[in-house]
Amino acid sequence: MEYRRLGNSGLQVSALSLGSWVTFGTQVDIDKAVANMQAAYDAGVNFFDNAEGYEAGQSEVVMGKAIKRLGWRRDSYVVSSKVYFGAVKNPGPNQKGLSRKHVVEACHQALERLQLDYLDLYFCHRPDPNVPMEETVRAMSDLIQQGKVLYWGTSSWSAQQIMEAYAVARQYNLVPPVMEQPRYNIFSREQVEVEYARLYRTIGLGLTTFSPLASGLLTGKYNDGVPEDSRLNLPGYEWLRQRLLGEGSQVRIEKIKQLAKLAAELGTNTARLALAWCLKNPNVSTVITGASRVEQVHDNMQAVDLLPQLTADVLQKIEDILQNQPAPRPFQ
Ligand SMILES: NC(=O)c1ccc[n+]([C@@H]2O[C@H](COP(=O)([O-])OP(=O)(O)OC[C@H]3O[C@@H](n4cnc5c(N)ncnc54)[C@H](OP(=O)(O)O)[C@@H]3O)[C@@H](O)[C@H]2O)c1
Repeated sequence: MEYRRLGNSGLQVSALSLGSWVTFGTQVDIDKAVANMQAAYDAGVNFFDNAEGYEAGQSEVVMGKAIKRLGWRRDSYVVSSKVYFGAVKNPGPNQKGLSRKHVVEACHQALERLQLDYLDLYFCHRPDPNVPMEETVRAMSDLIQQGKVLYWGTSSWSAQQIMEAYAVARQYNLVPPVMEQPRYNIFSREQVEVEYARLYRTIGLGLTTFSPLASGLLTGKYNDGVPEDSRLNLPGYEWLRQRLLGEGSQVRIEKIKQLAKLAAELGTNTARLALAWCLKNPNVSTVITGASRVEQVHDNMQAVDLLPQLTADVLQKIEDILQNQPAPRPFQ
């Protein structure tokens, strides 16, 4: 495993990490969570991602029980949570969002569910236009002062919102955000490659990127329909199925078939190729993988070994297939 600094912070995160969205508490019970986390840990993964909103808190309950059973040293791993969506179905006005009340209460509740004393990383899962930026930044900063959180960041915020949070923190001598968690994969590039481009240099933003396989699409498993035991067949995820297999999907699937040929020439598969492609971006601190079974963890962890094979020539072949490289903005 390779380890990378989380942006300008001193924290080292494994280049590949493991998340729990959709899986923990739905497809993955405690036994499977233990198996998946142990397989990842054995491969060198030190970061496990979670959020209050995943299965209304159940994902954190499952991860907490798994961590307890695994008995690892607390200083050998990094755990995150995220605040915004709430941990109850149909949350009331103060049970979601980024007010000081919810940010603080959600942190306490996540720690209880995870059975931990502190969160290594705490994310604002989405921006909240109903709360003044200073209130949220101050709440995050206070949690850090209290030792309940070590680093804070954002998820799916615009570059402008991240910059505003940073500026507010600097103005009031508070702790600024150090990381953002955006979607990043072969089909979703604009935000990471263009929108945030200045933030890596100006504020040292680190990235923990999500959905590297576009929810499994990039494994090629959806090329000929939806397998019974797959994410896109789960009740409640019809919206995701529509997003991935709706308009424009044939074009994407054709590209995945071409990527599969290239992967075969390299002696690998499209999943590992797609993960390694994300890792080639030096602004990515860690690529958060997802897995509903342990075989997938074993498969995905091998992506790191593929990095030396992703030469400039191979990367150009990938660009030729994708034809979607975002144009830099004039000021960059
Ligand atoms: N901040 C945010 O807003 C946000 C949003 C999304 C995700 N995340 C984080 O990022 C993590 C990863 O996102 P993601 O789960 O969407 O990642 P992903 O890699 O795009 O999709 C993971 C899914 O793809 C399938 N899969 C994975 N490896 C496979 C393999 N080798 N062969 C065949 N199928 C494979 C599995 O689904 P099947 O069950 O179909 O096999 C697995 O659950 C999440 O767990 C979460 O922690 C954050």
